[in-house]
Amino acid sequence: MKNKINALLKEVEGFSAESLEQLETFRIKFLGKKGLVPALFADFKTVVPEERREMGQLINTLKQSVQNKIVSLKDTLDQQSDLQDSGFDLSLPALSPMGTRHPLSIVRNEIIDIFSRIGFSVSEGPEIEDDFHNFTALNFPEDHPARDMQDTFFIEKDPDLALRTHTSSVQVRVMEKTQPPIRSISPGRVFRNEAISARAHCIFHQVEGLYVDENVSFTDLKQTLFYFARELFGENTKIRFRPSYFPFTEPSAEMDVSCNICGGKGCNICKYTGWVEILGCGMVDPNVLEACHIDNKKYTGFAFGMGIERITMLKYQVNDLRLFFENDLRFLKQFEAAR
Ligand code: DAH
Repeated sequence: MKNKINALLKEVEGFSAESLEQLETFRIKFLGKKGLVPALFADFKTVVPEERREMGQLINTLKQSVQNKIVSLKDTLDQQSDLQDSGFDLSLPALSPMGTRHPLSIVRNEIIDIFSRIGFSVSEGPEIEDDFHNFTALNFPEDHPARDMQDTFFIEKDPDLALRTHTSSVQVRVMEKTQPPIRSISPGRVFRNEAISARAHCIFHQVEGLYVDENVSFTDLKQTLFYFARELFGENTKIRFRPSYFPFTEPSAEMDVSCNICGGKGCNICKYTGWVEILGCGMVDPNVLEACHIDNKKYTGFAFGMGIERITMLKYQVNDLRLFFENDLRFLKQFEAAR
């Protein structure tokens, strides 16, 4: 009897029903007047007194598990039939996700992807930043006019807090907490007190890059950015560097890529020069390394920073930066097919 009950318990456990009719047949088989459970209770009379306690418990367990099974299967079947009545076809494949990625996210992800393939990893920092991380550690001298290069939204004087004007502040945060080798890429939102126009906005996005190790040279900078430009704009892309000035790099440069619209022949996007500027870069100034407690006798590094809006405008030939912030579906839907 014990073996029989155990076998029935297994059967109940493994049972499932696809319809209410099947479930009813199951119920009758076990709990019906002539069902298996009443039959077991009838046989119980013949059980020897020493085994009665155990057998009684077993039969009750079986009865209970049949009842539980019925309740839970009925629940599931009821839900399914509700769904069927509601007209849902559960066998249909899922719809593709609603909505699309914003063009700025598409390009940001692509930039991160390109650099992560050569060992850079993402780091982020706060949008509300203190004077030290946004300016001082980056070698902007106190009260120096260089701070006016970036029209800052100040929040508070003491402590000195502002909305970060560039993602270069994340360089400082990364170097403060990590010793070289460092290969970091930092995307994020930045803020400047500028009038909004087709070419400028008070909120925009940048990606900052930083590479610090022993023996890092300008050659490494050039090769890294050359690789990046070809990955992003196509393998025939050329690059050129023009000397520039940033307080946190020495020497500093701006990098142009050959115009991806006209292939360098000259068009209105590149103002008939064949070149478009895409980023600022340079060798990390030893003062910056020192401010972040990195041995500037042992280590050198390069850094670069670019505006995501600008790159997106070039890549997709968008001629008004304000479009990125208006969320007009007619604009956003054009990026549906992009990654
Ligand atoms: N922070 C600069 C800006 O907002 C961009 C930049 C230039 C970043 C040169 C760098 C760099 O890391 O080396 O205009």
